[in-house]
Amino acid sequence: MNKIDVVLGLQWGDEGKGKIADFLTPNYQIIARFQGGPNAGHSLKFNGKTHVLNTIPSGIFHENTTNVIGNGVVVDPVRIKSEIERVIDAGADVRQNLLFSKKAHVILPTHRLLDAASEHAKGDAKIGSTLRGIGPTYRDKIGRNGVRLGDLFHPNFKQKYEAIKKEQLALVEFLGYKDFDIIALDQEFFEACEFLKEFKFEDTEYFINGAIPTHKILAEGAQGSMLDIDFGSYPFVTSSNTISGGVCNGLGIAPQNIGDVYGIFKAYCTRVGSGPFPSELLDETGELLRKKGNEFGATTGRPRRCGWLDLVALKYAIMLSGVNRLIMMKSDVLSEFDEVKVAVAYKVNGTETNQIPYDLCNETVEPIYKSFKGWSEDLTICRKKSDLPQNFLDYIQYLETELALPIHIISVGPDREQTILD
Ligand code: GDP
Ligand code: IMO
Ligand code: MG
Repeated sequence: MNKIDVVLGLQWGDEGKGKIADFLTPNYQIIARFQGGPNAGHSLKFNGKTHVLNTIPSGIFHENTTNVIGNGVVVDPVRIKSEIERVIDAGADVRQNLLFSKKAHVILPTHRLLDAASEHAKGDAKIGSTLRGIGPTYRDKIGRNGVRLGDLFHPNFKQKYEAIKKEQLALVEFLGYKDFDIIALDQEFFEACEFLKEFKFEDTEYFINGAIPTHKILAEGAQGSMLDIDFGSYPFVTSSNTISGGVCNGLGIAPQNIGDVYGIFKAYCTRVGSGPFPSELLDETGELLRKKGNEFGATTGRPRRCGWLDLVALKYAIMLSGVNRLIMMKSDVLSEFDEVKVAVAYKVNGTETNQIPYDLCNETVEPIYKSFKGWSEDLTICRKKSDLPQNFLDYIQYLETELALPIHIISVGPDREQTILD
């Protein structure tokens, strides 16, 4: 029986989900996003060009593939309008191949303002959010005060919008945030809503469940497991469930319909925004990882914090999502380091542990490292496992044993072609 496969990030986001979802798409007829929104930036590279997607699933550049924006996603009409225009320009058949859930919540201009206002008010304690309005939109969804895409077609939409706007502007004012022009924001928002209404909207839970027997479906995660609202480094997290459990709520499918769970991780670690990062390198090695890995946000351009691979966090993420296939990204970036390290355990207040401590934000966490001999060979030209240098293969072998899972795909560059299948 067909099941829905899942591809998701096991670290703090930006693992390379876009590249892999695009790479796997030829095996699937439907690609569906189940959470997050335009806080995501998923990069794809083929035919010498890089494309960055924020809300649109990464199967959009393939013909005859339906790309579903599920009910668990939050959609900003203004941002998705420009994303759609960009993707149409790049040659994708968006009108035919993009499908929105009517139940996906709408990011209003005031949600963006509230995101900025609350980050501003937090000062040094800020989350370092992407300022895309994600937190305030999910807060309104859970608080039963949200606007859904299906509401765009309702004759009273404008009244509903005005009522929520009034409430939220009062809050923005209370937080002392003044740097905006609400008339311009309103106009831009309503123009974008009219543009969006031309596309396909459905109760996608029926579409997806109806398609399971006859179609191969891939659910594409955004962010990463350590940013999950329940299991990430709270409160320095995003506002949705990024683990495989989120697929059920975010698309309206039952747990027994989940098949393979592909867990993606970088050969090292990065994090953007604030919050704990036990294996972070604040020295020149971290700087070199950032430079060689071009670690700057695909959405915000912010420099990403860099560090060694963290097996404590990786094992936790594998456990939470029931990952059965591992995919290692950016292996090429580790070439030319004399030694490559992996955090194998933590010392928390002097005691060794293999678990993520409850209060990761306040404990003193010191990683315990295992060191590997580096390799100087350029991996970007390798196309099969036998091309890879022995020191790198030893590193992989160690990871497979420790994680008790085979590494199914090794990525050695951003391009579709730079991918080694086991
Ligand atoms: P996502 O959010 O998980 O889709 O990842 P991002 O697109 O935000 O960040 C991953 C970055 O690494 C992008 O710039 C990709 O083009 C790039 N990338 C993906 N895989 C590889 C790889 O194997 N090697 C290198 N050097 N870059 C990669
Ligand atoms: P992709 O899908 C990396 C981070 C932000 C911030 C925290 C909360 O490209 O991997 P939010 O705007 O969600 O309220 O921000 O989460 N964050 C990401 N970091 N990749 C992402 O997405 C992210 N989406 C959110 O930097 O620390
Ligand atoms: Mg990204």
